[in-house]
Amino acid sequence: MEFSFGIPTKIYFGKDCIAKNAGVLAAVGSKAMIVTGKHSAKASGALDDVTAVLEAEKKEYVIFDEIENNPSVETVAKAADIARAEKVDFVIGIGGGSPIDASKAIAVLAANTDMAVTDLFKNAFTKALPIVGVPTTAGTGSEATPYSVLLRKDMQTKVSFGTKDTYPVYAFVDAKYTYSLGKGSTISTAVDAFTHAFEGYLANRSTVISDSFATTAIKAFGKSMRKLAKFELDEADRENLMLVSLLGGIIISQTGVTIAHGMGYCYTYFKGIPHGAANGLIMREYMKLNYDVAKDKIDNALSLLGCESIDEFADILAEMLGQPPKLTDEEIELYTKLTQIQKGSMANTPHKIDAEVIKGLWSSIR
Ligand SMILES: [Fe+2]
Repeated sequence: MEFSFGIPTKIYFGKDCIAKNAGVLAAVGSKAMIVTGKHSAKASGALDDVTAVLEAEKKEYVIFDEIENNPSVETVAKAADIARAEKVDFVIGIGGGSPIDASKAIAVLAANTDMAVTDLFKNAFTKALPIVGVPTTAGTGSEATPYSVLLRKDMQTKVSFGTKDTYPVYAFVDAKYTYSLGKGSTISTAVDAFTHAFEGYLANRSTVISDSFATTAIKAFGKSMRKLAKFELDEADRENLMLVSLLGGIIISQTGVTIAHGMGYCYTYFKGIPHGAANGLIMREYMKLNYDVAKDKIDNALSLLGCESIDEFADILAEMLGQPPKLTDEEIELYTKLTQIQKGSMANTPHKIDAEVIKGLWSSIR
């Protein structure tokens, strides 16, 4: 047995964790850039909780609320210019994965004055402003990972970066911020969280420690999954799904993701399908592909989910997400080519992945 495991993020989980740990948040710096999208930070109450602490503790802040659903390199570059001009010394990402991912990019660009935005993806930087993550969805787990996934229009896909410097220093994880989230977003983000746990469980880079997090997360997802499909979630389910999300982030921070994520980016880029739903639509064929090389883990996951077969589980996902879009032969060719950009995801998948296997997967999903 040989492994390493550890994340530098200190996590505060539970109701009102920001107010209860005001001193921790306020001690990170003297002037914050709060990075959010247009709506969720405000609607969830998270923005008010953060600004209440900063104001009470006499800290300055600026708000950048222009983060898109799939944040682009152009937007984070614009925010970083403002962060430098305003001389902020820490960044607070509030929202789903997009604002938190964007806050990591902004923190790096603000701390490395002459850096071109596309240099982020070389992972060659050695410093970043301190980052605080406040999730308002139960999905990405970005508050506990170093990863930032940004849209590269020049590459027609999403590309990620992340180093030890882009882990948030603190994560404040409070499920109450997800209470106001609608059905579609709740389902898509929860399925993303599940795929983090499940792909991390199967990943070639999985360890005995990440597996123990993964089995806990998969079992927790199974507990709320049928209520999730009917969108009959109570506060306990919301907290349970928030835990799946957080654990999923911790897991993939150690294991990385696999080819389901690598493929999902195509659905998001070309079909506008939200990230989690995109991965979920791929799960049935992904599980079947990997069954011959990961039978024990897949059987164990199905048992933790309370399902007897891959199809029984995938049918529950289909109840949540609907059917995958029909793809033309040209789309399959293009998606096959673009999926191969995701080299890390390919190498991390237990079943051997090459162009032919990817094409086979896309062909069987449509
Ligand atoms: Fe994801």
